[in-house]
Amino acid sequence: MDKLIINGGRKLKGDVSVSGSKNAALPIFVATILAPGKFEISNVPFLRDINTTIKVLDSLGARIEGNGNVVRIDTTGLNNVEATYELVKTMRASVLVLGPLLARHGRARVSLPGGCAIGARPIDQHLKGLKALGAEIRLEHGYVEATAKKLKGTRINFDMPTVGGTEHLMMTATLAKGVTLLENAAREPEIVDLANMLNLMGAQIEGAGTDTIRIEGVKELSPVDYRVMPDRIEAGTFMVAAAITGGDVRISNMQLEHLDALVFKLQDAGVEILNKDGIVRVKGPKKLRSINIKTRPYPGFPTDMQAQFMALMCIADGASVIAENIFENRFMHVSELIRFGADITIDGKSAIVKGIKKLSGAPVMATDLRASASLILAGLAAEGQTEITRIYHLDRGYEAIEKKLAGLGADIVRVKE
Ligand code: EPU
Repeated sequence: MDKLIINGGRKLKGDVSVSGSKNAALPIFVATILAPGKFEISNVPFLRDINTTIKVLDSLGARIEGNGNVVRIDTTGLNNVEATYELVKTMRASVLVLGPLLARHGRARVSLPGGCAIGARPIDQHLKGLKALGAEIRLEHGYVEATAKKLKGTRINFDMPTVGGTEHLMMTATLAKGVTLLENAAREPEIVDLANMLNLMGAQIEGAGTDTIRIEGVKELSPVDYRVMPDRIEAGTFMVAAAITGGDVRISNMQLEHLDALVFKLQDAGVEILNKDGIVRVKGPKKLRSINIKTRPYPGFPTDMQAQFMALMCIADGASVIAENIFENRFMHVSELIRFGADITIDGKSAIVKGIKKLSGAPVMATDLRASASLILAGLAAEGQTEITRIYHLDRGYEAIEKKLAGLGADIVRVKE
């Protein structure tokens, strides 16, 4: 197993480029199931979760070839309709294949994902939607077995905005007969990216990015070439890296408008952000101010930036209240941040962070993807050495992060344990 060693206290400076979005690429790969033929997906980040998605598609009978950040997927011979427990338990997003398999083949058998480190994360909304579209669903031996002669468009009102649920039903409804309305839909940019690809394939989707999405079913879809959008969470993580080290970083290949909620909070904290000619320059202040945040569905403050923002608030002036409203167990980084000397107490859904002058480097353990990022950020700002173990979590979602940070002047290396 690899670990990261960071010698903190260096101000980050220079240029960094953001990779393609993990959370957009995953459903985009799954969408290739909907049409037989050859797809070319570019700007694909090199990540463990992408590898898992490739394994899922391969197990279904697709042929996949990768060349750097371009992946070619041929779904002509995709005839298997089962996604096993082995694959789904490694990555929950694999469950998104259920609806597309059902739409293309009339049946599917997909393992239920089970629990997750950040919360229970049920898929009841996905299943409710598939049933409403006319699927017959049975749960047997830990698997969801779904069949449908013909899916029929309908109105689906989500109990809460769910990113995966919205993506899943939007993909499935493209091949249903008639019109489907997804109400109280999630509005994340990754959903818009997926809808853009589906529309290129011949789907008729309107309203992606709003809370009501209208999908008019079509008879068939065709394969396309598609470029994945930049990763807004990776971009946000670099913005916080600049801020927490008092650095001056220029970030390219990012879409700042996807990060409005974070940008306002960083500016309130005293961080300078300039957007010019597609490059975002972030300058950390001498002293950060404490700011409260509440995570919310997009366009609110993203839960995927909560841990990183908390690391920042650890060295801000004053006290900050950080409320996590999306996942019930997404404070696992708190006890690790406390090992850096941070002053944090948890009260229900909120963490109260009292800023201190300096963090001090420590051996810590990564618990999930974004928690890992927050520990790196704390390590970059801390005095002395930090050692982060269990970084396989990090490799699920950040492409070559230690190399990118080293390119900005950070003293960070990956070593084999
Ligand atoms: N929920 C249900 N029932 C459902 C679906 C969701 O109760 O059927 C609940 C969840 O338990 C959660 C809330 O609704 O409390 C929102 O979950 P959502 O479905 O939106 O999350 P997701 O689709 O499983 C995606 C990202 C996550 C990100 C969340 C929220 C992907 C592959 N994953 O998950 O990304 O945190 O949206 O924005 O797109 C990450 O990248 O680190 C990550 C965890």
